[in-house]
Amino acid sequence: MEKSVRRQIERISRNAKKTKEALVKQIKADKEANGTMRLERNFSKTQLYKLPHLSKGIVEKETEDMMKEGHVFRKNENGIGYCISLDEVLTIYKRRNIPTFRERKEDPIIAAIANLKGGVTKSVSTVSLAHGLRTHPSLICEDLRILVIDLDPQGTATLLLSFEKSVGEVEDTAVQTMLHNLSKKELMEECVIASAVDGVDVLPANIGDAFIASEWEKFCNEDLPNINPYEVLYKTIIEKLKDEYDFIFIDNGPHLDAFLENTLQCVDAMLVPLPPSNVDLHASCNFLERIPLMYDAIKEKGVEARLQTLVGFMTKFDAKDEDDLDARTMAKDMLGGNLLDVNIVDSKAFEVSAETFDSVISVSRKNYDGDKKTLKRIQDNVLSFSRSVFDHLKHLSEDK
Ligand SMILES: Nc1ncnc2c1ncn2[C@@H]1O[C@H](COP(=O)(O)OP(=O)(O)OP(=O)(O)O)[C@@H](O)[C@H]1O
Ligand SMILES: [Mg+2]
Repeated sequence: MEKSVRRQIERISRNAKKTKEALVKQIKADKEANGTMRLERNFSKTQLYKLPHLSKGIVEKETEDMMKEGHVFRKNENGIGYCISLDEVLTIYKRRNIPTFRERKEDPIIAAIANLKGGVTKSVSTVSLAHGLRTHPSLICEDLRILVIDLDPQGTATLLLSFEKSVGEVEDTAVQTMLHNLSKKELMEECVIASAVDGVDVLPANIGDAFIASEWEKFCNEDLPNINPYEVLYKTIIEKLKDEYDFIFIDNGPHLDAFLENTLQCVDAMLVPLPPSNVDLHASCNFLERIPLMYDAIKEKGVEARLQTLVGFMTKFDAKDEDDLDARTMAKDMLGGNLLDVNIVDSKAFEVSAETFDSVISVSRKNYDGDKKTLKRIQDNVLSFSRSVFDHLKHLSEDK
C-alpha cells in the first residue's frame, strides 16, 4: 500500500472515532436536557386497581399503611393524584405476599432470537421483548429481571440498551468476559450494565469481538483449557448468573460462528423472527431447515444441547396486506402451534426510536420524533407480544 493511502485510511479512522463520539455526546446531551436518560414508569392509583392481584380496596389499604409507616408517595403534576413508581408497586405486591417468578420457579429461561438471515429484526425484537417483559402491567407482579447477552460484534442490542457503552473500547464485552472466566461478583459489578429500564441489563458487544470469533478455538485452548469451546457461554456466564435473572436473551449476528454454536448449546428456547417478504421468508425457511444439522454439528463437538422448544413469530407484519396474511398462513402450516399468536407489526416507530438509541418502550414521548399515537400503538403491540412470549415460555422452567 502506498504511504499516502495508508495516511488516508488512518485519517478517516481517526475521524470515524470522533464522529461516533460526537454522535453519542449529542444524544446524551439531549436526553439529559429532557431528563429522559432512564425510563420512569409511573402509575396513578386508578391504574393500580386494574393490575393482577390488586383492587381498589387493596391499593387504598396498602398505600395508607405505607404512609402511616412514614412512606411518602410523590404527587403528580397537578398535585391531586399520586404518581406511584414501579418500585412502589413492587413493594405493594411484596406486602401482599404475591410470589414473584423467581420465588416460584427453579431456573431462568434462556432464549435466543435467532435467524441466519441478516436484518430480520433479531436485535430490535430482542431489545423490545426485554423491555416489554419488564414493563407489561400484567407482569409487574412477576418482578422479572432480564439480561440480554450481546454476542453480535455489530453491537446493535448494546447500542439500543446502553448507548454510552458503544463509544470507545469496551473491555468487558460478553465475549471477553467468557474468555476471562470471571467470578459472579466480577461479572455483576464490572461487566453487566443497566439499561434505561430498571431490571433490564446487558452484557455488551463490541466490534473487537469479531476478531475473537474467527479464532475462537485457539483462544479457548489458551485461556480455558478445561472447558469445551462450545460450552463456554453456559459455563462462564449463564451458570454463574442464573440466580440473578429470570430471562436471559442472547442476540447473535447473522453468521454461523462459534458464538452462535455456544448459543445453540445453552438455550432452552429458540425464537425465530419471520418477516413476511418472500426473500426473508425463503431465507428463514433455509435456516429452519438447517437447525437439526446445526444441532448435529454441535453434538459432534461433544456438548449436550438443552433446547426444549422452537417458536416462530411474524415480524415486520402488516395485517392489512394480503401478501403478509398469505405468508402467515405458510408460516402457520410450517410451525403449527409453535407460531406465536401475536405478530410484531411493521412500523417506522422501531427505526425512529433507534435514532435516539432507544427501544420503542424506553423512548420517551419527549424524545420521540414521530407520531405519538403510532408510538402508543406500537408500544401496546410490543407489550402484547412480550406477554405472548411469556405465556409460551414460562412452563420451560420447573415450579419449585
Ligand atoms: N417491526 C419492525 N418494523 C419495521 N422495521 C423494523 C422492525 N423491527 C426492526 N426494524 C428495522 O429493521 C432493521 C433491521 O433490524 P435489526 O437490526 O434488529 O435486524 P437483525 O436481524 O438484528 O440484523 P442483523 O442480522 O444485521 O443482526 C432496522 O433498521 C430496524 O430499525
Ligand atoms: Mg442484529
